[in-house]
Amino acid sequence: MKEINITTTFKVFEDQTQLPENIQSLVQQAIEIRKKAYAPYSHFRVGAAIALDNGKIVLGSNQENAAYPSGLCAERVAIYQAGAIYPDAKIVTIAISAASDSNPTLTPIPPCGSCRQSIAEYEFKQDAPIEIYFMGESGEVYKSNSINNLLPLSFNSTSL
Ligand code: THU
Repeated sequence: MKEINITTTFKVFEDQTQLPENIQSLVQQAIEIRKKAYAPYSHFRVGAAIALDNGKIVLGSNQENAAYPSGLCAERVAIYQAGAIYPDAKIVTIAISAASDSNPTLTPIPPCGSCRQSIAEYEFKQDAPIEIYFMGESGEVYKSNSINNLLPLSFNSTSL
C-alpha cells in the first residue's frame, strides 16, 4: 500500500483592484455578463469571460430552463461558444463571477463539477494550462494556474 498526497494551490487577491490590469478587465466583463444571466428559477447569476490566445474574448452567463436539467452553467455556455467559434484558439484565462439576487455573495464561488470537467477537456486538448479566476459578486478573488487544482486526477481522453 502506498499513499498519494495531492496538493492544490490558489492565489487569493483581496479584491479585483489587486489583479493585473488585463485580468481586471476580464473580471469586469464576467461581472457585466453575469447581470444578463437568464436565472428565473434559482435567482443565482453567474458570468464567465474567456480570453483566447488570438486576443478574442468570449462571454457566457447561466441559462436556465423550466425543465431544470436542460439549463446550462455560465462557464460551459462560454467555453462551448469558444470551442464552436474559435476551434483552433487556446484558452488562456477564464474569469468567473457569481451573485445571488436574494443575498450578498461575498465569498469566491468555484465552478461546479461538470464545469470543471468541461474546462479539463479543453486544457487537455490544447496541452496548455488554463488560468481560472473566480469570485462572488465582489470581494476576494481566487486564482488557479490550471484546472488541475480544481479537478485533480481528472478523467480525460487518455483514460479511455
Ligand atoms: N451555475 C453556474 O452557472 N456555474 C456554476 O459553476 C455553478 C452553478 C448556475 C447554474 C444554475 O443556473 C444556477 O447557477 C444555480 O445552480
